[in-house]
Amino acid sequence: MAGLHQDIEKVLISEEEIREIIGRLGEQISHDYAGKNPLVVAVLRGAFVFTADLMRAITVPCAVDFMAVSSYGNGVKSSGVVRIVKDLDTEIAGRDVLIAEDILDSGLTLSYLVELLKGRGARSIKICAFAVKDIANHTAAVVPDYVGTHVPDEFIVGYGLDFAERYRNLPYVGVLKHEVYS
Ligand code: IMP
Ligand code: MG
Repeated sequence: MAGLHQDIEKVLISEEEIREIIGRLGEQISHDYAGKNPLVVAVLRGAFVFTADLMRAITVPCAVDFMAVSSYGNGVKSSGVVRIVKDLDTEIAGRDVLIAEDILDSGLTLSYLVELLKGRGARSIKICAFAVKDIANHTAAVVPDYVGTHVPDEFIVGYGLDFAERYRNLPYVGVLKHEVYS
């Protein structure tokens, strides 16, 4: 994967750290959802890698479904406009929904999704974000219930996260070299 690796400035979250994060989240969620049968909703495309790992660390029965929203286009700044590209196939009235998100930046995408799913009568809605971006002087529009890790306000790729649909297959999270997107 030399072609992708050479575009990375530095590794932010190593494969080893990812394993630790997943293990911790899996334990917390399994504990909190004991006796329940949550529906894990992966927000495509970015969260698919994280969700696959997270599901396998959860020890209570759970189902999975997918939703695709588009908020960024191919750029690096949040537009605030959320478009549903693919909706759930599962009826969520009365269900305990756990939204799995790759990275929470402004939180605009998720706050929109939470309102939408509330309106469909979910019994509970919680958010599990693999990474939360720490942005100075700015509060995200939603507060996640489970947080994998915090990352600085830089554009990161890998472990599902893309730049223009590339780098999702990197097994770690890294900071993209500036010259790649400027
Ligand atoms: P938000 O609505 O600003 O919270 O944006 C969340 C979405 O933007 C995430 O699900 C990602 O798809 C994308 N995103 C935000 N920051 C990054 C980043 O640093 N790298 C790649 N994608 C990002
Ligand atoms: Mg995304």
